[in-house]
Amino acid sequence: MNKDWENKGYVDEIVDKSLDLKAEIRKMCKEKDAIILAHYYTVGDVQDVADFVGDSLALARKAAETDAKVMVMCGVHFMAETCKLLSPDKIVLCPDLNAGCSLADSCKAEDLKKFKDEHPGYKVISYVNTTAAVKALTDVVVTSGNAKKVVDRLPEGDNYIFGPDYNLGSYINEVTGRKMLLWNGGCHVHERFSVDAIAQLKKEHPEAVVMAHLECKGPVLALADVVGSTATMLEYAKANPKKEFIVATEAGILHEMQRSCPDAIFYPVPPEISEGGLGCSCNECQYMKMNTLEKIYNTLKYGWPEVNVDPDIATEAVKPIIKMLELSK
Ligand code: 13P
Ligand code: SF4
Repeated sequence: MNKDWENKGYVDEIVDKSLDLKAEIRKMCKEKDAIILAHYYTVGDVQDVADFVGDSLALARKAAETDAKVMVMCGVHFMAETCKLLSPDKIVLCPDLNAGCSLADSCKAEDLKKFKDEHPGYKVISYVNTTAAVKALTDVVVTSGNAKKVVDRLPEGDNYIFGPDYNLGSYINEVTGRKMLLWNGGCHVHERFSVDAIAQLKKEHPEAVVMAHLECKGPVLALADVVGSTATMLEYAKANPKKEFIVATEAGILHEMQRSCPDAIFYPVPPEISEGGLGCSCNECQYMKMNTLEKIYNTLKYGWPEVNVDPDIATEAVKPIIKMLELSK
């Protein structure tokens, strides 16, 4: 292992510019019995070279069922951890270990542990955007694609803590009538979408359907026609392929939307620019964009960075994910 790579969190070897990277990556996948999983927020080139592109729920399901020896998870770190938890015997590679998640960062395991201790008897429902250590303190995991279904199926008499996404939790409280205690976390990309920006777009395109991800703030969700996960929005667009859509989520999803609905027009909602933001004043997740063809190529070539989860944490962390998969069937 090159020490410098270890410090950087990815293999930064310069890749020969004359190579057809997509073809080389596909060749290596075959040789190494590897599959590439990519989230909808990654850049178009990464989605195009992947074996499977999906939302976080579909990616988790795929990770649980694949026969391949190696999985290259092109998303963010917690997604690679989820793959490892569901397929502990597989090698899980993550092209850049720096691909974190501001939402997962907003809930540290030690803080959740303290909060649980202050609320004895409460069960914990965690969004999949959490570390394995947080999942190990969790009773059931949810994704934006199944949160309502899973919460609806939980016993009514119990008390629940829901975290870390406050916006998703508020929405689920509203639609299920539950009174879950909410963690005050959020995603720096989705928190930036404003009612004003959408109203402006709606004025310019009055026929357009407004779609918003459940991580957006309540007032944004209230004026959206369609709310849900990335996959929910995509499915809606596919069922209405001739329409115009205003899309309030990370802009990477537009690649797949436009590919599957070539006749539709998609307007990405611009973010409100906040002073001193988290390194990106656009509607893009800088962590998802850390997945590049060069890094995927190097990851496959060197079999690094590999993601592993501490076995004691893994034993507990996989249970709420399995429970989610069962409850969301
Ligand atoms: P999905 O569950 O819609 O894939 O969302 C994951 C995510 O990170 C949204 O910011
Ligand atoms: Fe995390 Fe937000 Fe990026 Fe999704 S968009 S991976 S929630 S930082």
